[in-house]
Amino acid sequence: MDRIAVRQSGPLEGTVPISGAKNSVLKLMAATALAPGEFLLHNVPDIADVTWMGELLTTMGMTVERPAPGDLRIIHDGTLVPEAPYELVERMRASIVVLGPLLARYGRARVALPGGDDFGPRPIDMHLRGLEELGASFEFAHGYIEARADQLIGARVLLEFPSVGATENVLLAAVLAKGTTVIDNAAREPEIADLASFLNRMGARVLGAGSSTIQVDGVEQLAPVEHTVIPDRVEAATFLAALGVAGGELLLAGARHDHMDMYVAKLGEMGMRISPDSEGIWAMSARRLRAVDVSTLPYPGLATDYKPLFVAMLATADGVGIVTENLFAGRFRYVDELVRMGADIRTEGHHAVVRGRPLLSGAPVRAPDIRAGAALVVAALKAEGETIVGDAHHIGRGYERFVEKLRAVGADVRAC
Ligand code: EPU
Repeated sequence: MDRIAVRQSGPLEGTVPISGAKNSVLKLMAATALAPGEFLLHNVPDIADVTWMGELLTTMGMTVERPAPGDLRIIHDGTLVPEAPYELVERMRASIVVLGPLLARYGRARVALPGGDDFGPRPIDMHLRGLEELGASFEFAHGYIEARADQLIGARVLLEFPSVGATENVLLAAVLAKGTTVIDNAAREPEIADLASFLNRMGARVLGAGSSTIQVDGVEQLAPVEHTVIPDRVEAATFLAALGVAGGELLLAGARHDHMDMYVAKLGEMGMRISPDSEGIWAMSARRLRAVDVSTLPYPGLATDYKPLFVAMLATADGVGIVTENLFAGRFRYVDELVRMGADIRTEGHHAVVRGRPLLSGAPVRAPDIRAGAALVVAALKAEGETIVGDAHHIGRGYERFVEKLRAVGADVRAC
């Protein structure tokens, strides 16, 4: 599937099953490098990023299997080659998160340096500085980081910014370090709390994950476990955005309202009704959305991953909304695509001014990345005629059965 055809749709009605969180499962998979044995993960989405992380683990010497839909078995025999090759890291930046666990378990790691991506530069200086505090040393040659640490020693790590990846890499190393590590200004995302709960089941001692101070008392060894991945809040947010644009009533089965409070509050301001339900999140959108201003921030602020969804919603909302990006400099590339669909959007630095129009106009467009690709599909639900979203493989990196799930609730969407 590399193209998705979308026609104006709505109202959407029915239940959407929300899959496991991509940004959690990738880190749990990396964490299996910390202990030999057999791990079993449940609620694992069938998406390209999981396949690629599986390939990386396989390259290092693990066995990765799908014993049943939604399940992932990972067998680590304790003799990994601690190396992440360029072909895999370049394809998926999240691969960098193997650095911490490999250093902790194997005392060395050779990991390709990730380049920039479509959001602009994405440095890893905070990952490296944090690991250095624990005693790791790095050399750079031929596009690779050669990392070494005979024995990691617990330390205080003060992150300059609550980076998700840096928090995870340091956490994954600190669990096997000698003594206590305190990570200050840690990222607070639900995926970090999920990682900590996975590590604690393995025998780690992690306190405070989900808050800005995480304390880790190092242990000598960890053991494999079985774990169920938390639901994907960005997938849930995407279906709420689709509902906002197309109207209707949906139940997002398995979604966690408490993981997306701020997003839900914003959609409430825009005129949607959303509430927690025993099965997930119930939501209704009965009229054209009202425009609001939005500013992205680290969790619990509005996630940068929601931003393209807001721009898509505002493109057909009533009024003018200003969207400010505070995390990734280049994350406005899809705006030109929305403009091709008739949206009235002006960008200036890290701000976008979106003047809502009642209806967009279907056009051929290209998905620049996972979230922006999904947002183009969302916007197309309120575009007259047909929109063809090209480069749809980006969407498949992070969304399980995206087209099928949309079709099941009445959207006129098909892979082509
Ligand atoms: N940053 C640095 N130095 C570092 C690390 C980060 O300057 O060493 C900067 C980044 O350049 C960026 C900001 O800090 O400007 C935030 O980056 P962060 O490290 O928090 O993001 P990440 O770990 O690279 C994860 C998600 C992203 C999500 C961000 C922010 C995964 C695999 N990726 O990236 O998700 O947008 O957190 O919440 O967990 C996606 O799912 O499509 C996606 C891009």
